[in-house]
Amino acid sequence: MLLTSYRLGNLTLPNRLVMAPMTRARAVDGKPTEDTATYYAQRATAGLIVTEGVHPNAVGQAGPFMPGVHTDEQVAAWRVVTDAVHANGGRIFAQLMHGGRIGHVEVAGHHPVGPSAIASGTDVFTPTGMAPAPVPRALTTPEVAEQVQAFADAARRAVEAGFDGVELHGANGYLIQQFLSSSANDRTDGYGGSISGRIRFAVEAVEAAAQAIGPERVGIRLSPGGEIQGIVEENVPVLYAELLKALPDIAYVHVLATVDDEVLMGLRKVWPTAWILNPGGQIGPKVSTREDGERWLANGADLISYGRSYLANPDLVERFRLGLPLVDAGQETFFQTPHGYVDYPSYQH
Ligand SMILES: Cc1cc2nc3c(=O)[nH]c(=O)nc-3n(C[C@H](O)[C@H](O)[C@H](O)COP(=O)(O)O)c2cc1C
Repeated sequence: MLLTSYRLGNLTLPNRLVMAPMTRARAVDGKPTEDTATYYAQRATAGLIVTEGVHPNAVGQAGPFMPGVHTDEQVAAWRVVTDAVHANGGRIFAQLMHGGRIGHVEVAGHHPVGPSAIASGTDVFTPTGMAPAPVPRALTTPEVAEQVQAFADAARRAVEAGFDGVELHGANGYLIQQFLSSSANDRTDGYGGSISGRIRFAVEAVEAAAQAIGPERVGIRLSPGGEIQGIVEENVPVLYAELLKALPDIAYVHVLATVDDEVLMGLRKVWPTAWILNPGGQIGPKVSTREDGERWLANGADLISYGRSYLANPDLVERFRLGLPLVDAGQETFFQTPHGYVDYPSYQH
């Protein structure tokens, strides 16, 4: 099943493996490099590649050495990446990631903003090491609309850069999930409080992006009940069911296994289009296998995303097909190091 094709929006994927979004912190001046093009092109046999988190505007940059997609120079640099992936026969979505309260003034000179002036209580990356996350400045109501618009503008820019679509990062404690969360959002202006208030930012951002580039080119990533970066959510099954019902019919939702299987399967039933499942969730103790993927396909998922397995195994599809062993990418090369990026070969017989 994992190795069968699938129709996603306007794209025909040759298999059901998705390369999960992974920040690699190797951008230079907010731009992807030639190595970035090589890295993604090496992985073009994936049914779909979702890039590392890419900030939709300057204030949304969560950490150092992360790329953006809001300036002409960034668009031109991404064009080299998307051309390389397409030349190798692949398909690639940009993950639009707005850090919200996860960020630091030292990253790009902007004090982070969030739904409310509540710090995450966790540490964030800065150019000089880890530091306590600052208290963000609470967005005013007109500024919330500006952040919604940033997702639409970035979606348009991403298509200009040659991406096949965009995935809004609604998971892992960044801006969109901060609006969903009771520990990051105590707003009283219609973007907080009730469930319909908490989901409003996510819905408006997705609607704006869908209007900008077409719903078939938009997805959203969610981590229901996920608790990293100081997130607490109330009434998770209802919160997410209401969110899914309120979203327009976009290409897909990409869900992390951050809540019980029964809750996930219940949520899957209320979603009309494609369901991408990430069995690993928020970096679990072990990497996911082909069998994990097959089990989720049998349980209602349409596509399966693999994160860490893709780092050291550019030919993951072939390795699954032939039952070849996987190489383990060490945690020490996740971010920034010159090695551990484009130097993993395909399987050597
Ligand atoms: C180095 C690294 C960077 C990551 N960066 C992102 C990111 O930018 N956006 C995101 O949604 N998830 C990110 N993740 C989470 C992965 O997409 C995935 O959900 C997680 O690694 C679990 O899947 P796995 O067990 O297959 O690795 C990252 C994970 C790793 C290991």
